[in-house]
Amino acid sequence: MRKTSLFIILASLSATCWGDVEILHWWTSKGEQKALDSLEHHLLQQGITLNHSSILGGGGDTAMTVLQARALAGNTPDIAQIEGPSIKAWDEVGIVHTINETAKKYRWDEHLYSLTIDINKTSNGYIALPITLHRLNWLWVNHTLLDQLELTVPKTWPEMFQAMEKAKQKNMIPLAIGEEAWQIAMLFESLVLATGGVDFYYNALVELQRDHIDSEQMRLALRQLRKISSLIEAQHPNQKWDTATQALIENKALFQLGGDWILGDLLASDVNVPQEIGCYPAPQSHNAFLYNMDSFIFMDASDFTQQQALQVADALADKNFQAKFNRIKGSIPVHTDISLSGFNPCQIQSHHDFIQATEKGLAVPSMTDSMAVNPVAQQAINSEIFRYYRNSDVSEDEVIKRIISIAKST
Ligand code: GAL
Repeated sequence: MRKTSLFIILASLSATCWGDVEILHWWTSKGEQKALDSLEHHLLQQGITLNHSSILGGGGDTAMTVLQARALAGNTPDIAQIEGPSIKAWDEVGIVHTINETAKKYRWDEHLYSLTIDINKTSNGYIALPITLHRLNWLWVNHTLLDQLELTVPKTWPEMFQAMEKAKQKNMIPLAIGEEAWQIAMLFESLVLATGGVDFYYNALVELQRDHIDSEQMRLALRQLRKISSLIEAQHPNQKWDTATQALIENKALFQLGGDWILGDLLASDVNVPQEIGCYPAPQSHNAFLYNMDSFIFMDASDFTQQQALQVADALADKNFQAKFNRIKGSIPVHTDISLSGFNPCQIQSHHDFIQATEKGLAVPSMTDSMAVNPVAQQAINSEIFRYYRNSDVSEDEVIKRIISIAKST
């Protein structure tokens, strides 16, 4: 019998006899699955068996809907993947375990980045375990196709449009993108960041200030989004982000714009990054760091006690595990005291750019990926942007008016 399977059998025999731990998440791509395998193996070594409730749909909107439905039915999973302001909302509901003992043991107050503490700590202390820090304003470039087109990496959106038009003339997919609201909205977010800069982005899409939403910068970003829509053939409806990444890998697509979970899938497909496919700041956003962060909450239920939650949190807070998980996931660690040795050059650049951006006040939360406003407003705005992208009859005025009315409701 192979050593591994013997190990797994022995580990499960020595399992803490409190059964399996159910985790609800939306990590279903190749890279996400590989990262989850490392999490599952790590918990098994602690005698904890993981049961997956994986909900299809990148970005997590569907997963959050399922979590709400299950909480209403009194049937919560033990652990749930979650992001941003939702963490505090679940704490206010009062069905989330605190994990202050784990935070104290690993000295989170000292070793977490301050923005990580703000997101995962409330007046009750730590109510979530942060695990990844993703950068969203990345442009992923297929160098083989770029060389065929005799182009250099675009640094501005005019250069980006020129490159995409040349790619289209050569029957390449100019920009690989999934046809889902959160992906199109994330593309729009990068356009807003590029047209108005970090402060404008923050006032318009994080603070939802009316005079920034109804502005020339927003209209320019909308016009550019409409131009992209006309430039790229509608790809498979509801195409997932990782299907778009596959087109980049197979030399069918020149660019993909999005978070470094894309790196996780590239590495899981043994792509040589950054040699074959390179990572560059999205056009006109070189000094900005648009981020989102994954955390886990531990649901308070009769069959998942505070003690059990702390046992799982202790295991997941382990620095070696956190380093390994992020290396595979494509993200960077949320702890300042975790070394990046063995990380991909794109992750090392991400970490460097994050430190620089944080010092200059240029690190901003992603509204479209659950880090800035309440999920209802976020999903409503994402849907309006997607509707504008898909339907050329929708005017700039109409989508601006709708976003303003959503903003008023928050
Ligand atoms: C984000 C999440 C990432 C990745 C991405 C695509 O919301 O933070 O970890 O899963 O969705 O699904």
